[in-house]
Amino acid sequence: MTLVDVKPWILQAQRECFAVGAFNANTLEQLQAIVMAAADEQAPVIVQISHHALQYLGSGNPVLGMRYIAEMGRVAAESVPVPVALHLDHGTKDEVIQAIAGGFTSVMFDGDELTFEENVTTTVGLRDMAHAMGVCIEAEIGAVPRADGAEKIDHETELTRPEDAAEFARATGIDTLAIAIGSVHAIRYKHVSLDLERLRAIRAVVDLPLVLHGSSGVIDRDIAQAIQGGICKVNTATQLTQSFTGAIRAKLAEDTAEPDPRKYLGPAREAMREAVRARMRFLGVSGKAAGFLSGVPR
Ligand code: G3H
Ligand code: ZN
Repeated sequence: MTLVDVKPWILQAQRECFAVGAFNANTLEQLQAIVMAAADEQAPVIVQISHHALQYLGSGNPVLGMRYIAEMGRVAAESVPVPVALHLDHGTKDEVIQAIAGGFTSVMFDGDELTFEENVTTTVGLRDMAHAMGVCIEAEIGAVPRADGAEKIDHETELTRPEDAAEFARATGIDTLAIAIGSVHAIRYKHVSLDLERLRAIRAVVDLPLVLHGSSGVIDRDIAQAIQGGICKVNTATQLTQSFTGAIRAKLAEDTAEPDPRKYLGPAREAMREAVRARMRFLGVSGKAAGFLSGVPR
């Protein structure tokens, strides 16, 4: 299929209490692993590309990285019979504008360094551009931190406040809202709990589909409860790269002199494919492609 709009899937996920998986790709093999897993599971899927991945794919030139991934994403989507969306993850204002023009079907503007008012103003401008092109737009209120050794979060001062979420959703008119409810980016093993009480309070005042970032370190019981509580898109990266890189380590341990990258990148692709399949089953999105096969193409 061609790259399609993600919004109808997210709204169905919200109605039926499952979550669409958004999986990060940094390489061609990871992109392939994600769409092959989606085909295996008959699931709609969001392939997401972060700000840092754009830098990497363009060898330090994010504009070139954007061009590469827009083409690679289109080909990947056309290679499978299930709906695929190409999403910009944690984009700057300029990257969001480039992604909308470049064929992405979904974007996230990350305004976590801005004041509330600046975040609203910038998000509204980007929403107008996104909607004019039929692109779904996610923005964030509160900030999901990155693992830096100090994972302790002060819930009262650092997590999303329900009243801010309600005001941000109302003022911006975005499609999906990323919230900070206790997860931390790039945690390497599952031990983080979510503030599910806060999620309930946010859901009580926000109708928008909600997005969970930093899912790799969150215990699965809490992710499952969060999906029942209004989380409709779950972002996963670290957990998948661990399976990818783990397979490379295992192959190179077998033959430390192996020169052919296909000999270790191939198994890495397969390992990540299985890891993505497992997450899709967990999120409840497996088998959901059927309802979206007529998804809106761009
Ligand atoms: O935006 C990307 C995600 O939030 C991934 O976070 O690496 O902790 O799974 P993660
Ligand atoms: Zn994130």
